[in-house]
Amino acid sequence: MINHFPLGEISAEQFLAEYWQKKPLLIRNAFPDFIPPVTADELAGLACEEDVESRLIIQNPDNDDWELEHGPFDEERFGELPESHWTLLVQAVDHWSPEAAELMERFRFVPNWRIDDLMISYAADQGGVGPHYDNYDVFLIQASGRRRWEIGGKYDQNSPRRPDVPVMILPEWEAEEAWVLNPGDMLYLPPQVGHNGFADGDDCMTYSVGFRAPAKSEILRQYTDHLSDQLTSEQRYADPDLKLQENSGEISALAMSQVRQMFIDGLEGEALERWFGRFMTEPKYPELFDALQHNEDAPQTTDLNSIDLLHRNEGSRFAYYSGEELVHLFADGIEYPLAKEHLDFVQLLCSSPEVALNGQAFCTEINRVLKALISNGSLYYETLD
Ligand code: SIN
Ligand code: CO
Repeated sequence: MINHFPLGEISAEQFLAEYWQKKPLLIRNAFPDFIPPVTADELAGLACEEDVESRLIIQNPDNDDWELEHGPFDEERFGELPESHWTLLVQAVDHWSPEAAELMERFRFVPNWRIDDLMISYAADQGGVGPHYDNYDVFLIQASGRRRWEIGGKYDQNSPRRPDVPVMILPEWEAEEAWVLNPGDMLYLPPQVGHNGFADGDDCMTYSVGFRAPAKSEILRQYTDHLSDQLTSEQRYADPDLKLQENSGEISALAMSQVRQMFIDGLEGEALERWFGRFMTEPKYPELFDALQHNEDAPQTTDLNSIDLLHRNEGSRFAYYSGEELVHLFADGIEYPLAKEHLDFVQLLCSSPEVALNGQAFCTEINRVLKALISNGSLYYETLD
């Protein structure tokens, strides 16, 4: 059952206050009677697709060597694998499977822009990716078979790691706690917690609901790049009111206040908010959107009245910022400013993967935005018969 609040007895508020980004949590039977929406065969099929990101990780148990191969794979590759100690990992399965996307809806107690994707792994007995840490929060749902999870310690960029293998293996990692997860069980891990999960028997499938958090360095670099792109080379430090200094070596407080003002000017109005909304909703695979937008065979709609159901593209990221004068809707890196009176509609688009229109008519402003969202590939639709 995936249409189910997954935190058991714990409310979303309590989870956010006590566990989110703070400490691990094991939830037995988070999804009772869990039927994996994507089967092992479907997963292998996806790993053979050109546009899908996938990896095979194979461990040699005799010498503890590790191998990493990137997809797409030939179907025959799966027939050549050893009996044990390998795992196939497929990224962003929710972008390709509406059923997998539906599972992600259960995690919207975290804002849309913090959600990354659903990664699914399939492992043969003892298969796993080795002891490592991630910089992101994750919910690990056991979908089929059993996996033993060992966790412990906090690690970072300076933690020793094996230099001789193509995957992150923490050589000094030590388990502090361990559990065997059965289908429907779920483990939450905050960033940087060391962990090692390996299949306990065959047919082990784990679904990882992954989150994202931009690096501070990335925010600062990207935003200042964005600001710089709008400036001409004539816009410079200028000092027509320069006064004679006692010592020509001094960088004066007055000069520095002018430099500081450049940063303050860059934050004026809602410039940062509008940039951030675009930046954080950029698609995970922008090239797939480019292909959608340039597909001349894509259905065109000019008649919104004939639309029954609108669907968010499974690979789309929707968010909004309620500004001083306008509500700014962001979808896949594009900003759609709307009058404040449309806040309800924007909220509906951001919170539901599908919206029933039943042919109802909208004002010209909403019509314009809906048409743009459709032609930019962020929404698709079903028509009335
Ligand atoms: C997995 O093996 O399914 C999860 C990998 C991880 O620990 O990040
Ligand atoms: Co991990």
